[in-house]
Amino acid sequence: MEPKNKKIFITGGAGFIASHLIERIIDDNEVVVFDNMHRNALAYTNLVNHKNLKIVKGDVLDVKSIEDGIGNSDIVVHMAAIVGVSTVIEKPNTTLKVNLIGTYNVLEACRKKGIGRIITFSTSEVYGPQIYQADEDGMTTLGPLSKPRWVYAMSKLASEFLAYSYQKEFGIKFTSVRPFNVYGPRQIGGGAIHNFIINALKNEPLIVHNHGSQIRSWCYIDDMTDALELVLANKKAEGEVFNIGNPQATTTTLQTAETVIRLASSKSRMEFQELKYPEVEIRVPSVEKAKRVLGWQPKIGFEEGIKRTLEWYRNKK
Ligand SMILES: NC(=O)c1ccc[n+]([C@@H]2O[C@H](COP(=O)([O-])OP(=O)(O)OC[C@H]3O[C@@H](n4cnc5c(N)ncnc54)[C@H](O)[C@@H]3O)[C@@H](O)[C@H]2O)c1
Repeated sequence: MEPKNKKIFITGGAGFIASHLIERIIDDNEVVVFDNMHRNALAYTNLVNHKNLKIVKGDVLDVKSIEDGIGNSDIVVHMAAIVGVSTVIEKPNTTLKVNLIGTYNVLEACRKKGIGRIITFSTSEVYGPQIYQADEDGMTTLGPLSKPRWVYAMSKLASEFLAYSYQKEFGIKFTSVRPFNVYGPRQIGGGAIHNFIINALKNEPLIVHNHGSQIRSWCYIDDMTDALELVLANKKAEGEVFNIGNPQATTTTLQTAETVIRLASSKSRMEFQELKYPEVEIRVPSVEKAKRVLGWQPKIGFEEGIKRTLEWYRNKK
């Protein structure tokens, strides 16, 4: 399957999602990982010594090192970002710099080096605190400045418009991916399922925010990776924005915690904690556009995904 014989430069390439994408494409392509190694999911793979992989330790705020690393790549996949609500709230300035100015730096490097194709990573947070069957042409919603959680969504939405502007004015074809709660092996940076599994395997309490009635659609990593391969292979993805998520794996946080406890045969109980920042109450995507344009659809059900993820954490060294 395409892509084949391409030079692919991946910022945030040591991260969770990137590590799975690289496993899929590395045998047929040359991949340069560009990452400041804040996180390193690659350390849990056999990829590090692969002949087609080069790892460059660098920061998306360092223009020169991006330009040096990006070389004459055919495709850029831009995933480097500050993620995780608590970090975003604690460090809004760093978040905006890395996510927005970092995206600007990567797009500028593409322009200067004549690179014609970029995949950028946005977020489902751009749909705001309540969204059912979000569709890409519907409205986005940004919360108020007084609630710093929304710094992340703001940085990502502005980055989408920035990528669009580089296509319009400089001809760099972009695709923006909006992931909806992706989980699975190697999600070492956090996330509800990561946190629940870690505690369930130690028989420690699972911390559930508020009453646990928040609703999320959970996308297993292999479904996300399928979608990314199709985006990379299909010219029809150029200039488009895609929701990638699994509306058929929709649960409350309470159900998520219960499922993890049951499938882990854990003795953990739940502990309820009031959340200090605004919550997203419901977030469910429509993925009709990805089905129509890419021929993609999610395949991994919620329980199957949790079982696979649990297995990885059980065997993790
Ligand atoms: N996992 C999800 O559910 C989800 C949801 C919405 C959006 N996203 C987006 O998808 C992308 C990948 O997410 P992920 O879950 O793999 O996250 P991740 O944290 O595992 O990966 C991000 C990578 O970026 C690197 N990085 C951070 N700051 C950097 C900097 N200044 N310079 C260079 N590298 C830097 C980190 O070291 C890490 O390896 C991100 O852009 C994220 O915003 C993910």
